[in-house]
Amino acid sequence: MNTQTSAKVPRHIAIIMDGNGRWARERGWPRLKGHEQGARNVEPVCEACIAEGVGFLTLYAFSTENWKRPAHEVAGLMLLLERFLSEKVAMMERNGVRLATIGRTADLPGPVRKRLERAIADTAHNTKLTLTLALNYGGRDEIVDAVRSIAHEVKQGKLDPGSISGETLSTHLYTAAMPDPDLLIRTSGEMRLSNFLLWQLSYTEIHVTPRLWPDFGAEDLRAAIADFQSRDRRFGGAVENPVTTASA
Ligand code: IPE
Ligand code: IPE
Ligand code: MG
Repeated sequence: MNTQTSAKVPRHIAIIMDGNGRWARERGWPRLKGHEQGARNVEPVCEACIAEGVGFLTLYAFSTENWKRPAHEVAGLMLLLERFLSEKVAMMERNGVRLATIGRTADLPGPVRKRLERAIADTAHNTKLTLTLALNYGGRDEIVDAVRSIAHEVKQGKLDPGSISGETLSTHLYTAAMPDPDLLIRTSGEMRLSNFLLWQLSYTEIHVTPRLWPDFGAEDLRAAIADFQSRDRRFGGAVENPVTTASA
């Protein structure tokens, strides 16, 4: 039978951290204040994941579309990222967190790239939680990049076009080294994917909470996991109905 109950801890949680701007607006503050508060949330959420036994946490931090925002907001986000990467390595070391990244990171500003590379190298030996930051990430670009690299291998004669499968595509994505997410959380109530992990979310359970990201904490993470555990993951399969004699 192809069914599977979800009464277990998700191996991989992905989060679309949304609502920073609205959180700040509610207080009459500039949007960057919301981003600052949002960045402070990453540490308790990582710790809650570790406490619950989650092995992979992927956070959507900056999309390929976010460059459209006003220049001062983009610059502020990049500075915040740089600061996060320099300040949080100690937290990652303390908690056994390995940092990874997905996205076209080569297009990030030089100082961010440098910090990112250093933080990834410094935490490479940690094994409790893989924290992946999606930076300059777009799901469509990721699939385009995978197709380009597959086409390159075909051209070089390393790959037979007839042997290309879903597995081939998966292993050419930025996420090749991790399982697909079991649970996707989106904060601030929006019901859309916004170009996040388009291939990988095919059978992911989705939990949308009205909570704005700067207010999201360990309790909310546990509530999302409990919601996940109440789901019946069928992956397209079916369980035979019990037949009763009362049927017409
Ligand atoms: C999410 O919060 C953070 C990023 C996309 C970088 P938003 O900045 O999108 O907040 P809202 O949606 O405007 O409230
Ligand atoms: C998605 O949030 C991107 C990140 C959380 C980094 P957005 O706020 O950019 O998405 P839309 O514009 O509401 O779709
Ligand atoms: Mg938003």
